[in-house]
Amino acid sequence: MDATLRGVVAVDGPSGTGKSTTARGLAMRLDARYLDTGAMYRAATLAVLRSGLSLDLAATTAEGHDDVVAVVLGARLELSTDPAEPRVRLDGEDVGAEIRGTAVTGAVSAVSALTAVRAHLVSEQRRIVAEALADGTGIVVEGRDIGTVVVPDAGLKIFLTASALVRAGRRDAENTAAGRVGAPDTQADLARRDTLDSSRAASPLRPAEDAVEVDTSTLDIDGVLDRLQGLAEDRDMIVGFADAGVGSHKG
Ligand code: DC
Repeated sequence: MDATLRGVVAVDGPSGTGKSTTARGLAMRLDARYLDTGAMYRAATLAVLRSGLSLDLAATTAEGHDDVVAVVLGARLELSTDPAEPRVRLDGEDVGAEIRGTAVTGAVSAVSALTAVRAHLVSEQRRIVAEALADGTGIVVEGRDIGTVVVPDAGLKIFLTASALVRAGRRDAENTAAGRVGAPDTQADLARRDTLDSSRAASPLRPAEDAVEVDTSTLDIDGVLDRLQGLAEDRDMIVGFADAGVGSHKG
């Protein structure tokens, strides 16, 4: 039997630290579900952009705020939690590519700072996690507030970090690979989003007290996954054997 995850692994950290690659890779390796909560904030932001409502008004007037929140609450978001095919649909349309574009990336911090938006998406996220656990499946959840707010009793909480230079380089490579020319995701833009995400009043980005910090600057993906799998094994979250003779035999 292969090594299989039980319970929840929370993967938090700023942009460009390798959260998606890591969380998805871990879910694939350990036969678990995968939830990208950033994709939910991005799809909600796309709904707001498509509505034509002003984000400036949402931040400054009660009516503007309520209109934006109503759009998010009315949007139908569907996420597949299959790490081999993590699709995102907005009102039935596959928006996986569009939510990574510059328009959404530029607006997502403003939408994700709204408390009512967060409350709505957090309850959706908890529902998805509960569904996976009820099926007897483990789940790897990535975001900014997973270990602190969404699943504070997660069996393993990881806070990924990487140097500013490495993070900007990864984001540039992603943009180039996706053909996004002139995308503003340089070091300055990452710093701007970090500041917004860390200083907002609602669930700011910060490591949970019991999170394990993993610096990915000098590790390749297999190195990061080996580290996380080892931490999950230490916490008895793996059933089946992990590697010949050394892994746990609990299943
Ligand atoms: O991980 P990402 O870059 O796709 O996330 C997009 C934005 O969503 C990011 O600027 C912060 C926000 N976000 C959040 O506030 N809480 C989460 N759990 C996930 C993402």
